[in-house]
Amino acid sequence: MPNLMPRQPKNIVILISGSGSNMAAIVRAAQAQHWQQQFGAHVAAVISNRPDAAGLQLAQSLGVATQVLSHQAFATREAFDAALMALIDTHQPALVVLAGFMRILTPAFVQHYAGRLVNIHPSLLPAFPGLNTHQRALDAGCTEAGCTVHQVTAELDHGPMLAQAAVPVLPGDSADTLAARVQMQEHLLYPQAIRDWLRSAACR
Ligand code: GAR
Repeated sequence: MPNLMPRQPKNIVILISGSGSNMAAIVRAAQAQHWQQQFGAHVAAVISNRPDAAGLQLAQSLGVATQVLSHQAFATREAFDAALMALIDTHQPALVVLAGFMRILTPAFVQHYAGRLVNIHPSLLPAFPGLNTHQRALDAGCTEAGCTVHQVTAELDHGPMLAQAAVPVLPGDSADTLAARVQMQEHLLYPQAIRDWLRSAACR
């Protein structure tokens, strides 16, 4: 018997704070690889906590709806996260993707999206959680650096790992040259990890 049940739509909401290059890589992959037809998945919205984030225009140029919720309009982290949850939930997301969303999240937010909240971090976690990952990798004399896609849990830059990519640290690297090499991998790794997540979600 063919399965005639309509497929649950899998809305993806992407949160950004800056240039949005990972967001763009995901949107382009979704379009080029026909995630809508393959998985019933599409990027429903890109939301920024910064009105001046360059990624907003980039998302619009890719045909994705954008919304801004400035954290500066809220007195507390809890109040901002509650408003952000309400905004995200208008899209009924199957997956919430943090793509350079530079906010520490409250436990309530993380709990609300448990199992459907992912992040990319520019280091080979568990090494170098937090900021300035590339300079710290150089200072530590690492011969490899990289990036990690992981599920988000209450602890910053922790949570079950979904995918990782490594690059060599080259003689003469600065934090900027290393960041650029890592970012090239981020743009491949993040769409691939989300596609894998959608593929396994399609079987659930
Ligand atoms: C990316 O390199 C991402 O790994 C990093 O911010 C950058 C955002 O760039 N995220 C973190 O540091 C999170 N802890 P983008 O806006 O061009 O995607």
